[in-house]
Amino acid sequence: MPHTLVVQAHQAVCLITLHRPQALNALTTELLGELAAELQRCADDPQVRAVVLTGSRKAFAAGADLNEMAERDLVGMLDDPRQAHWQQITRFPKPLIAAVNGYALGGGCELAMHADILIAGDDAQFGQPEINLGIMPGAGGTQRLLRAVGKSLAMQMVLSGEAIGARRALDAGLVSEITPPELTVERALQVAQRIAAKAPLAVRLAKEALLKAQDVDLASGLRFERHAFTLLAGTADRNEGIRAFQDKRPAEFLGR
Ligand code: HXC
Repeated sequence: MPHTLVVQAHQAVCLITLHRPQALNALTTELLGELAAELQRCADDPQVRAVVLTGSRKAFAAGADLNEMAERDLVGMLDDPRQAHWQQITRFPKPLIAAVNGYALGGGCELAMHADILIAGDDAQFGQPEINLGIMPGAGGTQRLLRAVGKSLAMQMVLSGEAIGARRALDAGLVSEITPPELTVERALQVAQRIAAKAPLAVRLAKEALLKAQDVDLASGLRFERHAFTLLAGTADRNEGIRAFQDKRPAEFLGR
């Protein structure tokens, strides 16, 4: 049983809630390890087709736990177990939706940016305040943020430490929707349920292809897309999807 997470099944969607209320969900090694393990369990469980990750109303996560960080010097950082946890979280192959309320700062903002889709409460704040501590982002906060919001705003956020609100994050493309805070998780679950009803292999390959667009040139990305598209032509779910359309009934996808 994880200590720092609450895990609930909502049919084919797993809702993972970060739960360290005493420290605004600051990310300890234990929390990152439990999250990585839980995501691995979701990846391995065919019943789970999408995951929603959330925090509390006050904070999605206020960054790396600074008390823990204070205890790690350079040598400690070199074999930091958190690196392996972050890498495992990065590799999660199913759709991951972040429902963000309150503070998403530092590692918290970086964790939210690991999600494929971000839905935010209108009081959410996204920021990379590491510069205030004499450090810089270390879990994607320079790379993913720049790809999400563009150079100028990413530079402003990372170099000045200034956070942005939900509306600005929406305009910049960091989040796809904003909601009243009390509806953020509900809306994220709704989107996740919708995705969970689709053909799992198509969802998985579409996610992979979309992520490729961020780090390969157009020709390679198009090649990958074409291969993935062709691969899906051999699946039972593709036949079912087309047959269901012709029969005017909802499709029942089995993940084959
Ligand atoms: C440890 C934290 C914490 C953190 C908050 N707390 N953030 N503990 N690590 N990152 C604790 C506080 O110490 C306090 O505990 C309790 O949570 C409530 O926080 P307050 O500060 O009292 O709340 P508030 O005044 O509302 O201010 C909220 C806040 C502020 C603006 C979010 O807490 C804050 O600035 N936190 C630090 C944010 C930050 O710098 N994050 C980046 C970390 S570096 P007590 O016991 O006093 O009640 C990072 C690098 C990632 O993330 C690298 C990845 C590889």
